[in-house]
Amino acid sequence: MRGILLAGGSGTRLLPLTTISSKQLLPIYDKPLVYYPLSVLMLAGMREILVITNSSHLDAFRALLGDGSHLGLDLRYAVQDEPRGIAEALVIGREFAGDEDVCLILGDNIFYGQGLPATLHRAAREVDGCTVFGYPVSDPERYGVAVLDAGGELVDIVEKPADPPSNIAVTGLYMYSNDALAYAEKISPSARGELEISDVNRLLVQEGRSRIVQLGRGNAWLDAGTHDSLMEASQYVQVLQKRQGMQIACLEETAFRMGFIGMDQLRELADRLTTGSVYGRHVRALARV
Ligand code: DAU
Repeated sequence: MRGILLAGGSGTRLLPLTTISSKQLLPIYDKPLVYYPLSVLMLAGMREILVITNSSHLDAFRALLGDGSHLGLDLRYAVQDEPRGIAEALVIGREFAGDEDVCLILGDNIFYGQGLPATLHRAAREVDGCTVFGYPVSDPERYGVAVLDAGGELVDIVEKPADPPSNIAVTGLYMYSNDALAYAEKISPSARGELEISDVNRLLVQEGRSRIVQLGRGNAWLDAGTHDSLMEASQYVQVLQKRQGMQIACLEETAFRMGFIGMDQLRELADRLTTGSVYGRHVRALARV
């Protein structure tokens, strides 16, 4: 399975913060937002990852993440110049995917939870068509919402319904088997002019090739699309990190624990970080430098 991280969009809701910066490069407490979804792809075992951004921010992403080799990754980049919809990521990424299945994650989605890596590994092994990840929320009308039957099976997905059929939001994390990528080319723009990922998923639901994995209450899912949610996500990370003395979405640590890099490479990365930040001290302690 290969990863696609969608980090385009115009970020207009966050102006003036996004006048010169990509939304996905804004800070969530002590690290750029993109670190969080990237670490999720890494925890799911993905090393080949396509980062999609708009052309004005491409250089900044490259400067931050490079070709990924320092983390044992193979990072490629592609441009989406206009936000024509999330589903376009599957069209842009089709060649990159080759014959592989794909895991798509939105660059402003943060997932955190102890059982998450195992859940993702299992889902990746079993994907046939599409797998979406559901999360209970108090404001489902802001999201794609899952319609479930009495047995908890996915029977429909409704995008931002005025009258939500359930409280289960469809999060910005999606897995597709390779043949399902072609479905992104079958849909037309919605009333808001976007190629909706929910339309792709609904086509697969109608064919009985879509399933939902519920992320239970032991997990956190946050999206950072507004000023308030950026702040709340930062506070969430701050509280957990300070309380537990660990790091969320530390890419060097994730690469090491996943076996993508060894101790020698971790030491090289640690040498580049100073003791002036908690992040730096954390990586240095892990590398025992
Ligand atoms: O966060 C999960 C939700 O994401 C899902 O529940 C919805 O079903 C899905 O449609 C999406 O809803 P949003 O309205 O929140 O999506 P938004 O337009 O804010 O885009 C989400 C991220 O994807 C954002 O960081 C920008 C990026 N993006 C979006 C579009 C439309 C792109 O990079 N390119 C695009 O064309």
